[in-house]
Order: sequence, then structure tokens, then C-alpha cells
Amino acid sequence: MPQLIVVTREGETRTIEGETGLSVMEVIREAGIDELLALCGGCCSCATCHVHVDSDYADRLPPMSDDENELLSISDDRDSESRLSCQIPFTDALDGMTVTIAKED
Ligand code: FES
Repeated sequence: MPQLIVVTREGETRTIEGETGLSVMEVIREAGIDELLALCGGCCSCATCHVHVDSDYADRLPPMSDDENELLSISDDRDSESRLSCQIPFTDALDGMTVTIAKED
């Protein structure tokens, strides 16, 4: 299974394995990292699954939808690496990617 490296808000780095077909948000939640609230369950309507994605992987991510862009625009922690993790399907191409959980808004 491909691996995902997750940096938590406390700065802890964890390497977890995830099933392809799940979203990055689901992979993180299934590993027991519950600081990613994902309140809407992945419907792209809450922005509580905000992460910063290693820019080396940017070209392997699906394009950002208008809805995702709009939700991220209200976050104080938004930067060029910001994505909603529920909008990123976890695939073998993302093996070894690092995501950092964004600050709580
Ligand atoms: S889980 Fe709500 S927007 Fe991603």
C-alpha cells in the first residue's frame, strides 16, 4: 500500500499506509489522526480537512474545483500548497507525499 507522511499540528511526523480509492482525508482519519475534523464527511462544504501538500506532488493532484477554492479562500492559513484533503483521491502516484495539517481557523 502507498504511504502518506502526515505532519500534525503539534509537529509530529507520522508515516501511515493508505488504501487507494480512499480520499487523503479518509486515509488520515482511518489512521486515527482525529485533528482533521472533516465535519462534512467529504462533501466539500466545511473546509475542516484543510492540509498543505508537498509542492513536489502538486502536478499529481486533481485540479481544484471552484467550490474547493472558495472554501479555502476563507482560511487564514491558506497558502499555495493548500488543498482540501477530501478532494484528493489517494493513489499509488502519491506514495511518499507529505501533507501538513493546516491550523484550525
Ligand atoms: S471534509 Fe468537509 S470539505 Fe473536506
